[in-house]
Amino acid sequence: MRGLNDLVGMLKAAGESTRLRLLALLAEGDHSVKDLTEILGQSQPRVSRHLKLLADAGLIRRYAEGAWAYYGLAPAGEGGDLARWLIDRLDPSDAAYRGDRTRQAEIRAVQQAEAAAYFAKVAESWDLLKTLHVPEAAVEAAVLGALGGRQVDLVIDLGTGTGRMLEVLASAYKRGIGLDSSREMLAVARARLASAGLAHAQVRLADIADLDADIGLADVIVIHQVLHYFDDPGRMLAQARKLLKPGGEVLIVDFAPHDLEFLRSDHAHRRLGLSQGQMQGWADAAGLDVRSAQEFPSHNQDRGLTVCLWHLGDRTNTDKA
Ligand SMILES: C[S@@+](CC[C@H](N)C(=O)[O-])C[C@H]1O[C@@H](n2cnc3c(N)ncnc32)[C@H](O)[C@@H]1O
Repeated sequence: MRGLNDLVGMLKAAGESTRLRLLALLAEGDHSVKDLTEILGQSQPRVSRHLKLLADAGLIRRYAEGAWAYYGLAPAGEGGDLARWLIDRLDPSDAAYRGDRTRQAEIRAVQQAEAAAYFAKVAESWDLLKTLHVPEAAVEAAVLGALGGRQVDLVIDLGTGTGRMLEVLASAYKRGIGLDSSREMLAVARARLASAGLAHAQVRLADIADLDADIGLADVIVIHQVLHYFDDPGRMLAQARKLLKPGGEVLIVDFAPHDLEFLRSDHAHRRLGLSQGQMQGWADAAGLDVRSAQEFPSHNQDRGLTVCLWHLGDRTNTDKA
């Protein structure tokens, strides 16, 4: 419940066309100010002023990350509920709304294309690149350990890259499927899985931002060093859950928050790590519980990054299933 002044403040903040358009865009996922400026075709100071008013009224949240700031709707239970209620009443055929959604999709496509171009370039040397940053062996052992020696029917590895996770978990599944949008990465993965004799693992070309449940429902989904390439990891996680069996598990490995801007400029990262609070919020919104979070500090003191393994579980009660 809200006090009268608070509620009037929220309604005033939302009661303006650019700000309502901003709420509608953020209802589709987090964006940087730069994206929002391009989508709306307005100056950055103007867009920033509107965003500040919405944030001050508690309708949206600002997440500072290095030189960038991301905005998203406030969580459920806070001002985000009112924002969602309003957006649900917007006619999807409204011309301004449709134009914004089209530009939003175009901007996301350009970002994905930039990331794809980067991955095409690094496909052959990707494993070397990984070892520069993180204690890979300890992380891989923990990923396998998270399944506690069980063997499950289907593991789906989202953003499989060179297929390394399919290799690490090979003893833990009857069937493994890796999905990736980079043909170059998949070429390396196919060669690698074949030479390791892993006939029960396959990789396929797919955009994991737009998943199709026809792929099958997984007991375990793995998302290893992928979420930081997405402006809105929460949206990605909600997509992933569409491929999860009731009661299934999600293993996420990603960086803890850091300030290495060059990973954005030189290595196509969008988010500078993911915090425990963010993961909790995204998991919650996707209907998943965070069962554990384990941190792995880097061996490299100078340019090292801490890696985190999150073990999430689907909340659906499977007792009666
Ligand atoms: C940093 S690599 C991680 C690869 C692998 N999970 C690992 O840790 O070795 C990120 C991978 O995500 C893939 N990727 C990025 N955006 C994607 C998308 N929209 N759909 C499918 N794959 C995507 C890239 O092609 C790349 O192979």
